[in-house]
Amino acid sequence: MKTLCLYYSRTGTTRDAVQELAHWLDADVAILSDRVTRSYMSACLAQLTGRLPQLKVRPRVDFASYDRIVIGLPIWAESPCVIGKVFLAKYARYLPKELYILTTQQGTRDYGKKILKLNKYLKVPMSGYLSVREGEITEAVIKRFAAEIMADR
Ligand SMILES: Cc1cc2nc3c(=O)[nH]c(=O)nc-3n(C[C@H](O)[C@H](O)[C@H](O)COP(=O)(O)O)c2cc1C
Repeated sequence: MKTLCLYYSRTGTTRDAVQELAHWLDADVAILSDRVTRSYMSACLAQLTGRLPQLKVRPRVDFASYDRIVIGLPIWAESPCVIGKVFLAKYARYLPKELYILTTQQGTRDYGKKILKLNKYLKVPMSGYLSVREGEITEAVIKRFAAEIMADR
């Protein structure tokens, strides 16, 4: 099962969680960016306006060569960050059908319903998600999510 873990991360929290997950899944890792070094305010603005410059994935990957993808995104303004939404809107049709979302957040609110709204970009509903708070990202939590993903095979 060839897996790609793709993430956007402004301050490193999502990156660290996704890299840990990739370790347990023996997955390749790629970085999603919008070519902008975002301050908190510019992240807020992007989230509110939804207007973004071109997206970039590095290294360049052939999505079709993967069986499964996990996309890591921070929560911005009560919803998965707009960079991920724009990515899914543009590229969902090229992605493996087995798709998981991993979000990181600061607060205690449950964003499950907001995460499931990403299904509107997908032909097949996402296979699962993990939503985790910054201070609660532990090896055990990530390892459990990796085990759930692998059990879905
Ligand atoms: C513009 C902006 C909006 C945010 N809104 C929320 C929010 O609504 N709820 C929340 O729990 N955390 C919110 N956060 C905190 C991030 O989700 C959290 O710090 C996340 O782990 C950051 O991930 P990163 O380091 O990969 O960028 C927000 C952060 C930013 C920059």
